[in-house]
Amino acid sequence: MSPFPSKTATFSLFFIFVFALSSFSSSQPTSPDVLLLLNTIRPALEGAAAANAELSSWNTSLPLCLWRGLRWSAGGSAASALRCDNDSALRSNLSLSLEPSLRLLSIRLPAAALAGSLPPELGQFSFLEALYLGVNSLKGTIPLELGNAPALAELDLAENALDGALPPSIWNLCGRLILLRVHGNNLSGNVPDPADPSETCARLRVLDLGRNRFQGPFPEFIGGFRELTDLDLSSNNFSGSIPDSIGGFRNLQRLNLTYNNFTGPLPASFQDSRFTAEAFQGNNPGLCGRPLDRCGSSPGLSSGAIAGIVIGLLAGAVVLASVSIGWVQGRNRRNRARQTEEEEEIVFEEDGNSGDGRLMLFQGGEHLTLNDVLNATGQVMEKTSYGTVYKAKLTDGGNITLRLLREGTCKDQAECLPVVRQLARVRHENLVALRAFYQGNRGEKLLVGDYHPNRTLHDLLHDTRAGKPLLNWTRRHKIAVGVARGLAHLHAGLETPVTHGNVRSKNVLVDEFFVPRLTEFGIDKLLVAAVADEMVSAAKADGYKAPELQRMKKCNARTDVYSFGILLLEILLGKKPGKGTGKEGDGADLPAVVKAAVLEEATMEVFDMEVMKGVKSPMEEGLVQALKLAMGCCAPVAAVRPDMSEVVKQLEENRPRNRYKLCIDLSTDGEIEHFFL
Ligand SMILES: *[C@@H]1O[C@H](CO)[C@@H](O)[C@H](O)[C@H]1NC(C)=O
Ligand SMILES: *[C@@H]1O[C@H](CO)[C@@H](O)[C@H](O)[C@H]1NC(C)=O
Ligand SMILES: *[C@@H]1O[C@H](CO)[C@@H](O)[C@H](O)[C@H]1NC(C)=O
Ligand SMILES: *[C@@H]1O[C@H](CO)[C@@H](O)[C@H](O)[C@H]1NC(C)=O
Ligand SMILES: *[C@@H]1O[C@H](CO)[C@@H](O)[C@H](O)[C@H]1NC(C)=O
Ligand SMILES: *[C@@H]1O[C@H](CO)[C@@H](O)[C@H](O)[C@H]1NC(C)=O
Ligand SMILES: *[C@@H]1O[C@H](CO)[C@@H](O)[C@H](O)[C@H]1NC(C)=O
Repeated sequence: MSPFPSKTATFSLFFIFVFALSSFSSSQPTSPDVLLLLNTIRPALEGAAAANAELSSWNTSLPLCLWRGLRWSAGGSAASALRCDNDSALRSNLSLSLEPSLRLLSIRLPAAALAGSLPPELGQFSFLEALYLGVNSLKGTIPLELGNAPALAELDLAENALDGALPPSIWNLCGRLILLRVHGNNLSGNVPDPADPSETCARLRVLDLGRNRFQGPFPEFIGGFRELTDLDLSSNNFSGSIPDSIGGFRNLQRLNLTYNNFTGPLPASFQDSRFTAEAFQGNNPGLCGRPLDRCGSSPGLSSGAIAGIVIGLLAGAVVLASVSIGWVQGRNRRNRARQTEEEEEIVFEEDGNSGDGRLMLFQGGEHLTLNDVLNATGQVMEKTSYGTVYKAKLTDGGNITLRLLREGTCKDQAECLPVVRQLARVRHENLVALRAFYQGNRGEKLLVGDYHPNRTLHDLLHDTRAGKPLLNWTRRHKIAVGVARGLAHLHAGLETPVTHGNVRSKNVLVDEFFVPRLTEFGIDKLLVAAVADEMVSAAKADGYKAPELQRMKKCNARTDVYSFGILLLEILLGKKPGKGTGKEGDGADLPAVVKAAVLEEATMEVFDMEVMKGVKSPMEEGLVQALKLAMGCCAPVAAVRPDMSEVVKQLEENRPRNRYKLCIDLSTDGEIEHFFL
């Protein structure tokens, strides 16, 4: 079921809106929160700029439910929050804003062109839990009084033009604080210590002070904030060493300490941790210790930690023989001090025995010779339940990708060859081409493909490494359309349709022009049923599995469409899909996240902050349509999902624009409004 109101609802809302405009109320509000909002907060946020489209909806002559970006309660508790989505009586109750017991629960106006400042009176709302004002042009300081807000738990002021110091009172919020983001402002000075030095901010998950002008030592007290999942101090002017105490975070998923002036050894606890050198780059050259360079005398990399792998290939001129894999510990390593990730090498070696394996070459792979492949050295790119993907270097300097399907995972040769021939004919800009195929006499298989030196969409969206390009809506849209075109080609552009079977962000390579290429399509058809079914389990764990899909052999175009819908939500929300809550950095049930946001009237909130950058009207630039489309693809009932050619068409019709209307015509507001209520 679609979480969005129907067209009919749009019209009735429009009438309410027009009616509201014509019936001006003469009474005055008596709720202290409403008075404060209208008399003080609105003018302050608006600043000297001309009337702001969002803020002008805060007007007692409009039904309360049309006031943008606000959540109310009729008494205070979040449990008694007013719901505007399904109660038309509530929607039309003009006098509700006069109700004395009305209390403000949240203000969510990201990317709303606010050009004023933060008034100190924000601290006076007794029930205000969330304040999301990111991606605006707010100026001035963060008022000290904000720290007095008794209920504030989520504070997002990122990407504004705020300056001055972070007020020490901010840590007064610690008892409830879950999220604090001030990324991308002009805040300066030292980060103030909390009044109580043993403050643990026990509920705080996200602390983002990145891209400001903070200086001074690492704020050591942060080490006590044990529940952090996300810590960003990047692009400031912090200096000195990074204290050992910050090694104690249990749940930290994302760490960014780049571009400061940190120096000295990294905490010992980072030595076996999840973070790569890219979380620390751009600091003082004196910053050292794993995963960076070794420090003067401290123990460095253990050479045994890195294993080499040798694949011996038995060879004839065009005939490869069996592949045997052995692990060779502690291979001779050159200077690898800077290399951070475990690395494995494959070396193809000739061996005297002969076998009955065969190398088949396909269009675009004609230049590959057996010797090329025999002499290739490479490194592991990825491991899956059924095999390993290697980047292999050819003697002529070029690279190829070798996808080794382990023995025991594959169907026999007679069943495989027709599938391989079919997959090998697939040529499309958004699909990685298969150039050659080898099957050894034990059943192991090598799929030889083009090497694309690019990141996976998964890395682009979720990796915590530095140097990632900005993924704005224009770029994400390009990626989404490309993936959709690739899939549509598999489903409808071939003589015999192919289902992908494993659509996920890790199987989308994205090049420097944001052209995506799908890999791994149809691989399941080479695998024995039990192994192929592991793909279903993996897809389930990672949230991509269509509800009706139980066995891989039942996968079809509609189950691909479902996975694509999840992928599209992943692109729009910037969140990992999965079965969890999404709270601790695990994957979240993305369709449920969207449904909940729509019900809570916070649809705008679900979009990744980066997506919203530069988007003036999410409705006119296709963002909202893309969200609806993704939800349609994820429909629990397979029959109502669109097919991929329809998906391509809709994405192409609703694209980001570079020009946008500066003035929004009030009379069309109802149309836009109903998506964001
Ligand atoms: C509220 O709306 C009425 C009717 O549209 C308008 O006349 C009035 O100026 C508005 N008040 C504010 C403060 O915007
Ligand atoms: C609105 O929806 C919520 C849950 O979705 C439900 O509990 C409530 O009763 C509904 N209200 C009306 C008036 O339908
Ligand atoms: C409208 O609001 C008033 C309070 O201002 C309340 O007494 C009344 O019950 C509301 N009517 C509806 C239909 O919600
Ligand atoms: C940041 O603040 C400093 C003064 O503290 C000022 O010189 C600088 O122009 C400000 N930068 C921006 C981008 O506003
Ligand atoms: C960074 O901090 C140092 C003092 O620690 C100061 O001398 C320097 O001017 C600061 N740099 C900037 C760009 O603020
Ligand atoms: C970084 O810190 C060192 C002292 O540790 C200082 O000499 C240097 O000037 C600082 N660099 C910057 C850019 O602030
Ligand atoms: C870390 O922050 C810097 C700038 O503040 C940004 O350029 C970089 O992409 C971030 N890295 C990660 C891994 O988020």
